[in-house]
Amino acid sequence: MTSNSNQDDGNASAPKSSTPPEAAGTAINDFFEVVETTRSVRKRLDYDRPVPPELIERCIDAAVQAPTGLNREAWRFLVLTDPEPKAQVAELYRASMEGLQERVRDRLPPELRDQPLPGDKPTYVGLAENMHRMPALILVCSEGRATSEDAAMQVAFYGSVLPAAWSLMLSLRASGLGTTWTTLLVAEEARVAAALGIPENVTQTILLPVAYTKGAVLRRAKRKGAADVTYWNRWAQSRE
Ligand SMILES: Cc1cc2nc3c(=O)[nH]c(=O)nc-3n(C[C@H](O)[C@H](O)[C@H](O)COP(=O)(O)O)c2cc1C
Repeated sequence: MTSNSNQDDGNASAPKSSTPPEAAGTAINDFFEVVETTRSVRKRLDYDRPVPPELIERCIDAAVQAPTGLNREAWRFLVLTDPEPKAQVAELYRASMEGLQERVRDRLPPELRDQPLPGDKPTYVGLAENMHRMPALILVCSEGRATSEDAAMQVAFYGSVLPAAWSLMLSLRASGLGTTWTTLLVAEEARVAAALGIPENVTQTILLPVAYTKGAVLRRAKRKGAADVTYWNRWAQSRE
């Protein structure tokens, strides 16, 4: 949940090399365009335009081609389109955001303690306030629990569900839909489970709020390039 001044957040003016606003809601076929412009979209969302269930299923069909440890396919996708479960989840998401300030700030590394948290940022609060209006909320779950302290087991557990969640987000983007990768809801996992009938041995991961965008311009984020984050043949060694 880091801040990124270059992210458009569905609210910026047209930059160079971006998806033109008129393309919002239309499919994008260029792979690198999709991967490089799948941003968090919290504004300019069309709450009134339904998202066809078939399109969501099409995207989930793509997502489940992701790698899965031991071929378990433990991922489960809970799609909320009815007003009542959406309202319940939206309320719990807001509760989680409000509680985050106290829960997290003291546990952050010292260099991050002065950073604004989601509850301090209008765009994040805006998403939370409108969560119940989203045409669809997709909760990506995995059967089982990463109970082991063993790092390898944890990597295997989450590594068997998060690639599918990211493929889903890319597929939604490629279909002209806006989403945001959110994890705040996990803090309210027990109450979400009770509200939605999710069994105890199911782990909740990412919540993707889904809507068509209204002219949001999504562009590449300003990030460190490959040369800054890649080592060759030995830790900290550059290619040349
Ligand atoms: C692990 C993780 C958790 C996140 N949780 C939330 C969240 O709960 N709510 C939210 O609005 N954004 C959340 N985000 C989105 C980040 O704030 C966002 O990815 C970041 O600011 C970069 O912007 P971009 O996605 O547009 O590139 C999360 C991102 C990650 C990777």
